[in-house]
Amino acid sequence: MKDFLIAPSILSADFARLGEDVANVLAAGADVVHFDVMDNHFVPNLTFGAPICQALRDYGITAPIDVHLMVKPVDRIIPDFAKAGASMITVHVEATDHLDRSLQLIKEHGCQAGVVFNPATPLHHLDYIMDKVDMILIMSVNPGFGGQSFIPSTLDKLRQVRQRIDASGRDIRLEVDGGVNVNNIAEIAAAGADMFVAGSAIFNEPDYKIAIDNMRAQLAE
Ligand code: DX5
Ligand code: ZN
Repeated sequence: MKDFLIAPSILSADFARLGEDVANVLAAGADVVHFDVMDNHFVPNLTFGAPICQALRDYGITAPIDVHLMVKPVDRIIPDFAKAGASMITVHVEATDHLDRSLQLIKEHGCQAGVVFNPATPLHHLDYIMDKVDMILIMSVNPGFGGQSFIPSTLDKLRQVRQRIDASGRDIRLEVDGGVNVNNIAEIAAAGADMFVAGSAIFNEPDYKIAIDNMRAQLAE
């Protein structure tokens, strides 16, 4: 079977008992912790910073932490997250004046680097950075909130990125974020994604294991 990663977004977790909730979702079979950092400037919402990432590490979370930075300007905060235990760090095209530099900064700090495309952001920004990215994150909702509906035009975008990754011959993850659930995950995988962020579709379910198993079952078909 293809190597698919399920990354629950802790935006929908119980913040009052975050360590326990993250441990539970990992025990239920999640592969990666998706960590949504929002600044009430680049996106209209405010979440958490590097100390919370460090707190998860201190609590004993050893799984990869995928830090999705919805923060502008972004460069100053990258080293903070690397030191706090981030495994991967992704930055939005519009959040930096110097995308190449931001990606290099992430790598210099020992993390995997990724670029994020909002639903209306064109793909030409990939033209000169394919050799600098370990992952490409396609937003399938406008960033800022969990629980929104998947935007269908994203499927065609995923297909285009999949072609570009395959043509590059490089080992680059294709991550999708927003509105992913058990009913659409198979179609999203068929479009080329291999890393799936899901917040409400996992954390709003009473049994995380059943939610994740049901998603994986769709991927196996
Ligand atoms: C949106 C965030 C997502 C969000 C996904 O800005 O980047 O990670 O939490 O939540 P769901 O899966 O509920 O759409
Ligand atoms: Zn996210």
